[in-house]
Amino acid sequence: MSRKSFPDGFVFGTASSAYQVEGMANKGGRGPSIWDPFVHTPGNIAGNATADVTVDQYHRYKDDIDLMVKLNFDAYRFSISWSRIFPKGTGEVNPEGVAYYNRLIDYMVEKGIAPYANLYHYDLPLALQEKYLGMLGCQFVKDYADYADFCFKTFGDRVKNWHTFNEPRVIAALGFDNGINPPSRCSKEVGNCTAGSSGTEPYIAAHNMILAHAAAVERYREKYQTTQKGKIGILLDFVWYEPLTHSKADALAAQRARDFHIGWFLHPITYGEYPKTMQEILGDRLPKFTDEEVRLVKGSLDILGVNQYTSFYMYNPSDGPSNISSYQNDWNVGFAYHRKGVQIGRRANSNWLYIVPWGLYKAVSYVKERYQNPVMILAENGMDDPGNYTLAKGIDDTVRVSYYRGYLKNLKKAIDDGANVAGYFAWSLVDNFEWLSGYTSRFGIVYIDFDTLKRYPKMSAYWFRQLLRRN
Ligand code: GCO
Repeated sequence: MSRKSFPDGFVFGTASSAYQVEGMANKGGRGPSIWDPFVHTPGNIAGNATADVTVDQYHRYKDDIDLMVKLNFDAYRFSISWSRIFPKGTGEVNPEGVAYYNRLIDYMVEKGIAPYANLYHYDLPLALQEKYLGMLGCQFVKDYADYADFCFKTFGDRVKNWHTFNEPRVIAALGFDNGINPPSRCSKEVGNCTAGSSGTEPYIAAHNMILAHAAAVERYREKYQTTQKGKIGILLDFVWYEPLTHSKADALAAQRARDFHIGWFLHPITYGEYPKTMQEILGDRLPKFTDEEVRLVKGSLDILGVNQYTSFYMYNPSDGPSNISSYQNDWNVGFAYHRKGVQIGRRANSNWLYIVPWGLYKAVSYVKERYQNPVMILAENGMDDPGNYTLAKGIDDTVRVSYYRGYLKNLKKAIDDGANVAGYFAWSLVDNFEWLSGYTSRFGIVYIDFDTLKRYPKMSAYWFRQLLRRN
């Protein structure tokens, strides 16, 4: 396998998000996001770590971009922190924040690294949560579109690939159902989450994200696309769900899981309505699109980002849904990592991440077949090892090398079979702040010594450099 195994113009990059790598969380004029008070509440993050500094990309972006160049990458998918641009979510602009993203983007362009900008990676301005409960408020749609518009206007002369939201499913499920992520609303008393989200809130939050996405796409198309000539889309996470047995019931369970996972967003965006399974199961709990909204939502996609890491087995539970959370109860499925005692794949460090290269082939092929083969990028793919590795052990990441080799082979196979994939982004360039896991999980192809913040390329980084060499 080499660069030449992929179509002409195929783009290779790495991906990250603002809160995970920038640092300067409460500096440079940035307003807090919903993650800041959450992270600073003891007990929420492993080791009570914070993202106040993380890998300090705010100051070290040149080092990181130089590394990308050295490793032969073509592109960088980063995210813009809404509250660094608008500290209160709307109104006054923070010029220091704008200047930072201009520096970052300019340096990428100078070095020949194509900027792929994502407008939202979990970090809602806290002010909007306080003002109208963030995504649960209708005002969210307009405020988001205004923020997006400002970014198109300010950075769109150089940024030609935009995404509106990263993993809206995760945002809705973890923020509004089991409440393990901020804004920590949950439908049932689980763990130490006691807020009273009804089983409907995840669907309202998701609905408003879909409308906000569509509103931003409309702004881009009407005001900027003709002159700026870029593309816009959304980033969806997609676990591949494989039926546990050959039974019809398990096949249907796996299909329900796919509908509640990627179909939740991609179905409206492609067909203008939620999947039939969701409509039947949820009834009135699922919001409806008006005719005008259907017009905006349907077709609001030039380029789909698929985040793919892992696969699970799914089965039809014989004795009713499991008792985890109401969103998962809604799917009425059981999850398993083993079939007849055989694990679906080797486990990485995270408890949700099993190494299943063929799952990527199935996930991409499924999108191709069920959703009219949109232009896709594989927008995140990678694995973690435990954070307490020493440098010597951390850079010797043979398992990660075989992960990437296996997944990329399956991506190539999907492309050879007709999937319309235009690029691939590894998660992530450097080890960084892994949300609830803090720094106990390392996804980088470059090791970070968190005391000195020095960068050390791992074996996987050199593997990419070799794979991506140009002649
Ligand atoms: C996402 C992901 C990333 C994670 C990565 C590893 O939402 O795109 O959560 O932010 O760091 O997937 O878990």
